[in-house]
Amino acid sequence: MEPLRKDLILEGAQIYLRPICAADTDRVVRWRNDKNVVKNFIYRIPLSREAHLDWLKNKVERGYVHQFVICRNEDKMPLGSVYLQNFEEQNKKAEEGIFLGEEQAYGKGIGTEAAKLMLQYAFEQLRLHKVAARVLAYNRASVCMHEKAGYVQEAYFREELFLDGKYEDLIFFGAINPSSKEL
Ligand SMILES: CC(C)(COP(=O)(O)OP(=O)(O)OC[C@H]1O[C@@H](n2cnc3c(N)ncnc32)[C@H](O)[C@@H]1OP(=O)(O)O)[C@@H](O)C(=O)NCCC(=O)NCCS
Repeated sequence: MEPLRKDLILEGAQIYLRPICAADTDRVVRWRNDKNVVKNFIYRIPLSREAHLDWLKNKVERGYVHQFVICRNEDKMPLGSVYLQNFEEQNKKAEEGIFLGEEQAYGKGIGTEAAKLMLQYAFEQLRLHKVAARVLAYNRASVCMHEKAGYVQEAYFREELFLDGKYEDLIFFGAINPSSKEL
């Protein structure tokens, strides 16, 4: 995939998405290491600045990941991030990831709006056929948010992952491009 255009802004009612940049590093590292985010992620190793800069250089700048920062319209405050990764060229498919790092942002419909903007971008601009998301079953906010954003549950894997001393159930969600007949 071509790297994300640096001037691209995706506008929503209460938030907008802008491409992530190196200046976001400290806040993104803080968000990713926030306990609310870590407990809901499959990958739980603390994220270092170096690892994030490496991700920016080798994944984002090379187009393997399209990552946005979610910002509040009223004051441009950055609240979290949403991204597409694991692009499959032949299948026209990618996987979505999302997190809000500022506690004040939770439960206001911001995640749903960001996930919808991301799907619209994936389908209309990247012309992907399908976007997938993997969600830990106990993460009710993410389950509910993905359903509201237009994803459908496709599979429920019981005790699929061993995380922090316990087996956890995992749900696979998928969203199909409504114009997919043309793709
Ligand atoms: C998942 C996440 C992005 C959701 O964002 P959000 O802005 O808080 O979600 P929304 O406000 O859009 O809520 C969507 C729906 O989920 C519901 N919801 C929110 N928090 C919930 C909770 N703790 N338990 C159950 N439902 C919840 C809301 O009620 C809403 O449904 P409604 O509009 O019918 O009331 C956010 O909680 C987050 O960043 N969590 C930590 C990281 C994470 O889990 N990332 C996803 C990994 S798969």
